[in-house]
Amino acid sequence: MPFQVALNFEDGVTRFIECRPHETVAEAAYKARINIPLDCRDGACGTCKSLCESGSYDAGDYIDEALTEEEAGRGYCLPCQMTPHSDLVLGIPSSSAAAKTAAVRHTAALTSLRRLSATTAEFTLDVDDRAGLDFLPGQYVNIAVPGTDRTRSYSFSSGPDRRQVSFLVRIVEGGAMSTYLGERARVGDRIEFTGPIGGFYLREPARPVLLLAGGTGLAPLLSMLERMAQRPSAHPVHLIYGVTTDQDLVHLDTLEDYLRTLPGFTFDHCVADPSSTARNKGFVTGLMDAGTLHGGGADVYLCGPPPMVEAVRHRIAALGVAPAGFHYEKFTPAATDASLATAEAA
Ligand code: FES
Repeated sequence: MPFQVALNFEDGVTRFIECRPHETVAEAAYKARINIPLDCRDGACGTCKSLCESGSYDAGDYIDEALTEEEAGRGYCLPCQMTPHSDLVLGIPSSSAAAKTAAVRHTAALTSLRRLSATTAEFTLDVDDRAGLDFLPGQYVNIAVPGTDRTRSYSFSSGPDRRQVSFLVRIVEGGAMSTYLGERARVGDRIEFTGPIGGFYLREPARPVLLLAGGTGLAPLLSMLERMAQRPSAHPVHLIYGVTTDQDLVHLDTLEDYLRTLPGFTFDHCVADPSSTARNKGFVTGLMDAGTLHGGGADVYLCGPPPMVEAVRHRIAALGVAPAGFHYEKFTPAATDASLATAEAA
């Protein structure tokens, strides 16, 4: 049975290819008409050197000049030599354009639209070619807002294995998607989007996981939780979810359910509004300490607006416990009715 290999390009575009157990990743990419960087194809030059973010493989034959032992120990690999033992996620050192590929365009039908609160909506799409849409939990797509020339970026709030895909939207007065959803959207509407995109995705849990969500930044973390519930690990998972007002709080029931279905899962939430009825008033950073970071032994995934991302970075610096892994995604002001627009990892 072939394995699935996610090729993540530097511009955030991800393409998925199938790779048989005795086939090299480079051969599989070639068959899929994706030109990942290659030169010698013999494990000698190092041109194809990539970072394996997830999965196991046979590294194949190569010389030290192409890949040092130290690099191999940090997860670097040579796609021209490696053969998979499992599904893989590879960071490819080129843009998708240089590899003569691009994010895939998909078409779908709107199947549901729910107002979760005064400030947040959720919609679900039935993708025409669902088998042709693979994504990593945490990634996003660019959706063309029907009836406009605008596109907006939204993270999947659903897990990669669900038949239909869902998204969270913060309702913003005058926002392109907010206006469409509030005034024109009808079940059955045709929707186009491209993706998946983004370097903000769940790595195979190898240590405790700390998830930090601000507002609709909860969406990609819901997708990650769904995946972790399907493939539980031995590591604890803690989520801190912060919002501005009580009416921004959504999916608390979903999170409560994960207390039962995801072993080792705990969560807390806080509301910035001083008049909130929430137990914790204030910001996500107020619920972070050296313990939630496991003394630096946790992988942190953070999705929220830029001030929150900066506040978390400062909090981590103040605590003096640099996390083992730190992945974050920011909203940008240009996408105020979108869930996000940029992804970064550190
Ligand atoms: Fe030269 Fe892979 S292409 S080492």
